[in-house]
Amino acid sequence: MISKSWGELQKMHRACRIVVQTLESLARAAVPGVATRELDRIAREQIVKAGAKPAFLGYRGYPATLCISVNEEVVHGIPGDRRLKDGDVVGLDLGCVVDGFYGDAARTVGVGRVSDAARRLMKITEDSLRAGIDRCRPGNRVGDIGHAVQAVAEAGGFSVVREFVGHGIGTSLHEDPQVPNYGPPGRRERLVPGMCLAIEPMVNAGGPEVRVLDDGWTAVTTDGSLSAHFELSVAIMAEGPWILSEPYPYAAKEAQA
Ligand code: MF3
Ligand code: CO
Repeated sequence: MISKSWGELQKMHRACRIVVQTLESLARAAVPGVATRELDRIAREQIVKAGAKPAFLGYRGYPATLCISVNEEVVHGIPGDRRLKDGDVVGLDLGCVVDGFYGDAARTVGVGRVSDAARRLMKITEDSLRAGIDRCRPGNRVGDIGHAVQAVAEAGGFSVVREFVGHGIGTSLHEDPQVPNYGPPGRRERLVPGMCLAIEPMVNAGGPEVRVLDDGWTAVTTDGSLSAHFELSVAIMAEGPWILSEPYPYAAKEAQA
């Protein structure tokens, strides 16, 4: 849980921008008939072209640049020959490294026409991420983030996955602290300026339980219900949260080298 300097945050900002811009390309490319392997190729090429390196490829043996998790798949789906079809709900999770600093983000998109229920699940999941980010202020605690996420997800009638959590991020993909998407407020580590957290709610339409398939990676809902996943990397600043893929949102900081 090391606080980053302004110069280090600039590198995180570059990495996070590349990740989110690439996710935007992938969202446009996620049309009926496209193979998930093709989306992985687009991700790798765009990241390399931007002067960055894929963060997931080779991480603990993970075999791809992108995680693609379709419908009841929660996270860590491996790209392959599967072709997306009309109505699929597709989680796209991507990380890259710039100058030794990591960016990590995810979003879930609908392919073609998706059901109202799927659209609502995606909206509530993204809303829960935004509620968590709003708690990213000095003096608050890590538990406040998860509490806010859980409140939004459960008020929507959905459930929050417990087995996977958000995390600190910086010169590694995963740093302390862990950032659960559930739990009581006022607990866990205190937030201080310069901390960077990847907040990533995984929200299931049915029960919260998940299991990992025989490929050793793909997590699915045990009840087969739809799942959605949104993630952004955020810096705790004195003024409030900075979503690192966006321009610095407060008064210009250029003076403080
Ligand atoms: N966003 C995910 C995470 O933070 C992606 C990591 S998957 C792996 O855990 F491929 F890198 F393992
Ligand atoms: Co992450």
